[in-house]
Amino acid sequence: MRVIICPSPDAVGYWAAEYVKQRIQSFAPTADRPFVLGLPTGSTPLLMYKTLIEFYQRGKLNFQNVITFNLDEYVGLSLDHPQSYAAFMQQHFFSHIDIPQNQIYQLDGMAIDPVVECQAYEDKIRVAGGIDLLIGGVGEDGHIAFNEPGSSLASRTRRVRLSDRTLQSNSRFFDHEIRKVPKSALTVGVGTILEAREVMILAQGEQKAMAVQQAIEGSVNHWWTVSALQLHPQSVIVCDEEATVELKVKTVRYLRGLDGGV
Ligand code: GLP
Repeated sequence: MRVIICPSPDAVGYWAAEYVKQRIQSFAPTADRPFVLGLPTGSTPLLMYKTLIEFYQRGKLNFQNVITFNLDEYVGLSLDHPQSYAAFMQQHFFSHIDIPQNQIYQLDGMAIDPVVECQAYEDKIRVAGGIDLLIGGVGEDGHIAFNEPGSSLASRTRRVRLSDRTLQSNSRFFDHEIRKVPKSALTVGVGTILEAREVMILAQGEQKAMAVQQAIEGSVNHWWTVSALQLHPQSVIVCDEEATVELKVKTVRYLRGLDGGV
């Protein structure tokens, strides 16, 4: 696992955007061989998206041959609900770049049969050739996508109940009223995430420090699903200084000495 400790929260976004750009450019995608991204929502990736949009506007990057799969969606919110993750992605990324709409895949939180919807999503990922680079944030409780504590590390795309802590944390997007936050979501599974060829997790701020500590110093376990990254041969955590405060000084020194990790 690589760990990149950035000097500021903004540096996390710039580092991640630069990394995505390099990956897409070196892959040199074509219509027959597109580059497949897994994409997160949340406040953490906002600067990454903004920077990627700037790359596009300056002609440094295009998304014509990129396919995207979002990681999760609230159950019960339509695609055009302002707090749906689909609307988030349009607002903060897709409407500003040249990606064809039919290359954007998102879970439908209004699907009549979530089981069918989730199985179809897995099939679509497979048909696209698998995810080349999956980018995620992390919850305060260590969840990746919406894989809450206790999710099987072999889990696949499915419907999940959201924990009280996540409802509390995400109520900031729903007028700070927990009752307005959907109680369940559709999410790719930990197993689905681990099948991506590369996984990059972004973490900013002290509130993510326990999750970062568990991911790096903890054992692999279902209570901190981000720890499953340890099982992935090509993973990177990009975090700011604040997100490292629960790590041992010795760990941070080791990581800095490696200049990014083993
Ligand atoms: C939600 C999303 C996660 C995201 C997390 C962190 O729970 N389902 O995918 O990683 O929030 O969000 P933020 O970046 O706003 O802290």
